Amino acid sequence: MSDEAAFTLPAPGQPIIEVKNLCNRFPTGGGGVQVVHDGLDLAVLRGEVLTLVGGSGTGKTTLLRQIVGLDAPTSGSVRVLGLAPAQLQGAGAAARVGMLFQQGALFSAFSVLENIALPLRETGAVPAATAREAAMLKLRMVGLNEGDAHKMPAQLSGGMVKRVALARALAMDPPLLMLDEPTAGLDPESSDAFVALLREVQRDLGLTVVMVTHDLDTLFELSSRVAVLAERRIIIAAPVPEVLAFEHPFIKEFFLGERGQRAMQLLKQRRAAPAPQGGTPHGK
Ligand SMILES: Nc1ncnc2c1ncn2[C@@H]1O[C@H](COP(=O)(O)OP(=O)(O)OP(=O)(O)O)[C@@H](O)[C@H]1O
Ligand SMILES: [Mg+2]
Repeated sequence: MSDEAAFTLPAPGQPIIEVKNLCNRFPTGGGGVQVVHDGLDLAVLRGEVLTLVGGSGTGKTTLLRQIVGLDAPTSGSVRVLGLAPAQLQGAGAAARVGMLFQQGALFSAFSVLENIALPLRETGAVPAATAREAAMLKLRMVGLNEGDAHKMPAQLSGGMVKRVALARALAMDPPLLMLDEPTAGLDPESSDAFVALLREVQRDLGLTVVMVTHDLDTLFELSSRVAVLAERRIIIAAPVPEVLAFEHPFIKEFFLGERGQRAMQLLKQRRAAPAPQGGTPHGK
């Protein structure tokens, strides 16, 4: 891990990700240009859970991929942990940012334990036995047990796939976690359980999380702030009540449509109930 880029953690509440004047233009078929982002600014603060919302095709996944350095923007600057995106990739990348892709994206030919151990093995700096031990710890952290270690991905439920993917994203204890639609495709019960796990892990490890989600239950349960992507930039990044008070057609539709009303009703009921001590916020 000798060529691993060093990073400095900012103080809690200070920017850990800074995106400035980001522009993305993609050529379209007929010789035209599609402008996805234009002058987009965003700061993510250490220790928060920032939820990114926006209509389909507004460039949420593109932004996430550029933050972790998987793609480069047309122009603008991205700094993560004080590093340029190129420095986030390569050796030890998984020690800087963990990413949970939408489908879990496990390697089907590898067992659960091998999948979790993969980032550790890839650095080449850790003996196989140590990597397996560390992976076993992460396996337990996400609520799975030793009996699951040798299962293959095809033998897992949707909720288990998400847990294994989370364990793998956290294998190298990164301070940053990116989640792309973490509860998509899960039934309501597995979704609630996974959200409770995310909340617990985020608090216990003091993680900074950037999450894309369309699911309002997940958004209300986890977000410190919500960033809204519309008109090719972030039009507001603020705690939920402020976002709700912000006049914009997308915000109205997203939060105050039928789905939004239902989720908000649930949130009010939960807030009215006595605060849970530690454990999960869900009464099951
Ligand atoms: N490499 C690329 N080349 C051309 N167009 C691209 C590229 N990457 C993204 N786009 C375009 O940019 C737009 C935004 O895509 P992106 O996947 O980021 O949207 P999204 O907000 O994540 O949407 P969804 O909510 O449906 O997942 C889309 O119109 C997409 O076709
Ligand atoms: Mg997307």
